[in-house]
Amino acid sequence: MKLTQKQKTFVEDLLKRMTLEEKIGQMNQESPSIVGGFDVPFSELIEMLTDGRLSQEEFEKILSTAKQDYHEEDIRAGRVGSVMGQDPRKANELQKIAMEESRLGIPLIIGFDVIHGLRSVYPIAIAEACSFDDSLFEETARMAARESRAHGINWNFAPMIDAARDSRWGRVSEGPGEDPCLGSHFARAKIRGLQNDRSSVRNYVAACTKHYVAYGACESGRDYNTTSMSVSNLYNVYLPAFRAAMDEGAATVMAAFNDLNGIPCTVNRWLLRDVLKGEMGLEGFVVSDANAIRECVAHGIAEDDRDAGIQAAIAGMDMDMGTHIYKDLLQAEVEKGTVPMAVVDEAVRRILSVKVWLGLFDDPYVPEADIEAYEKGLPAEHIALCRRAAEESMVLLKNEGDLLPLSRKQKISLVGRLADMADEVCGAWAMAWKKEDCVSVRAGLEAAGADVQYYPCGGPEGELDEEEIARACTEGDVIVAVVGETDAMSGEASSRADTGLPGRQRELLERLLRSGKPVVTVLMNGRPLALRWEAEQLPAILEAWHLGIRMGDAVAAALLGDVSPSGKLASSFPAVTGQCPVYYNHPSTGRPGSRSKFTSRYLDAPWDALFPFGHGLSYTSFAYSGLRVGETADSLEIALTLKNSGGREGTEVVQLYTQDVAASLVRPVKELKDYLRVSLAAGEEREIRFVLPKSDLGFYDNTGAYRLEDGLFRISVGGSSRDTLEQEIRLQF
Ligand code: GLC
Repeated sequence: MKLTQKQKTFVEDLLKRMTLEEKIGQMNQESPSIVGGFDVPFSELIEMLTDGRLSQEEFEKILSTAKQDYHEEDIRAGRVGSVMGQDPRKANELQKIAMEESRLGIPLIIGFDVIHGLRSVYPIAIAEACSFDDSLFEETARMAARESRAHGINWNFAPMIDAARDSRWGRVSEGPGEDPCLGSHFARAKIRGLQNDRSSVRNYVAACTKHYVAYGACESGRDYNTTSMSVSNLYNVYLPAFRAAMDEGAATVMAAFNDLNGIPCTVNRWLLRDVLKGEMGLEGFVVSDANAIRECVAHGIAEDDRDAGIQAAIAGMDMDMGTHIYKDLLQAEVEKGTVPMAVVDEAVRRILSVKVWLGLFDDPYVPEADIEAYEKGLPAEHIALCRRAAEESMVLLKNEGDLLPLSRKQKISLVGRLADMADEVCGAWAMAWKKEDCVSVRAGLEAAGADVQYYPCGGPEGELDEEEIARACTEGDVIVAVVGETDAMSGEASSRADTGLPGRQRELLERLLRSGKPVVTVLMNGRPLALRWEAEQLPAILEAWHLGIRMGDAVAAALLGDVSPSGKLASSFPAVTGQCPVYYNHPSTGRPGSRSKFTSRYLDAPWDALFPFGHGLSYTSFAYSGLRVGETADSLEIALTLKNSGGREGTEVVQLYTQDVAASLVRPVKELKDYLRVSLAAGEEREIRFVLPKSDLGFYDNTGAYRLEDGLFRISVGGSSRDTLEQEIRLQF
């Protein structure tokens, strides 16, 4: 986010004309308060919806009956800088009040959680990341930006880029998985997609990279829990995606709820001022997470709201989401000198800069034509993009005897409640989809011309239906079982201490297997699941996540062979929950896990992931050969031959890993450094090349300094983190 000199001058002139109350007003974000049916902030209601405490129907009923307070009076008085919302006509109303009825006419920045699409919902991030397709990441973000603006939203609380290694944590679903390299590619592409098409104010929004930082390292995978780690771990694993986002010009950042090494991110001056605004050069502003300033009292770092507000402002927290602490208490502290005016001026300068950069002073309104267009339906190209994203995000985990793809001649017994639940396909953090746009697996198979009969049998909750199971096992040639999690079982406040298939779904699968009919399992879930029994017993497993509005079409296309799965896991799957956190880029230890007793292993479970990072099968096969590693002054040149050795076209994600074999800090046994999606016809072979800057082979030490150390390196290339060709090279920098 870069301002022109003219824009900078405009901001400075405006700042000079503002009263202290108006300045603090810019630092205040309001959510519509639902009064009457519920008296909670709107963001809490949204959370209740997303985590399943409220059904979609209950939510809509509350909204229809309850009155909503949009804080018009405070906006008129200049005490509100931002609101949350998704209704375009209401957004126009509030912008009109801000622009025409407040003293200085400062427009509102209107934010919403558009994590993986607004109306045209595409796969949850953990799924989309499995595509390893940077151009897709960017295209879907650009679509989300356009739909946001058409709904009055000019600020997306996205991308969520928290590295996460522990699938007990429900928010694994929202981010790009365990790896800092893939996470950095994802972050860059999302920022480009959200922010870079500035051909019209209709096409871009301010991004809000979150949650800064290390939220995914919450102890025991329990949401909001404490995080602690070395500086080198923070810099090598959790900061890279944010550094990449800053390099790409992300306009805003949201601080995380958790404390890091004892200091909540919300009031962590080192993180906010020294690292984020200093080292990484954030040009825009930092917003707290919902209610997070007040929660510093519960954290035990502040005695009361006033103390929390002072600490947050001084630490560099520019905007307060939802507590009113800045609005109600900060003015007195500035007047007393507890909080310097310079702190307020810096925060307001940053906020106004983003508003100017968004073009809001010139045109904050949504044209009526845009509003009516979306009332009529979704753009065809958006629907097509959602489908393509869904097709690329599926991962074929297992396919014994090439049971998949099925033929349209086979009579399919489709089993499992999730198969018929169109309102479960979008997953966590999708609140604006319309059911008529959503395609269930059942509807997708029927539309694709499969000979399919649906039997509910049972799902993530509730009992099994023995009769339906018996019918399913009798009537079909092949059984397709859709099992997994509801959208409420992942996302915020949805950690699970047992990440196996919920409810009686494993029992269901056991019954189906006993029929002797071939069983294809489709997983519909928001996190890596612990699947030891399933991986041993089930012949074919397709990981389909929560793929968004066109999930049914994509799953049907994969099951029937119209598309070949090409996804690779962005997050390792454990055999049992007790392995969590489990991830591929781990240090070796002095006794690397093996069958020998005195090594880093378990008595009752494998020491390594069930399905590792980067794993994913295809309906064809790929052969890797001829790995060659060359060196120029400042880069490595890696080449190899990839052949499609199977009987049909397919796409492979070729992955490049390195290992710093001996360094001044122990380093991971493998680190992803680059990847390439390659599509080949049957029998086709191609030379694949990577150019890897030598500067990418370093690491951060415990002072936060980046180190490039001479020594031996292993270069690996393959179709997963576990199955690679390898060469060694000694380097001097
Ligand atoms: C939530 C989430 C955050 C979201 C915010 C606003 O608590 O942690 O990701 O953007 O509130 O809804």
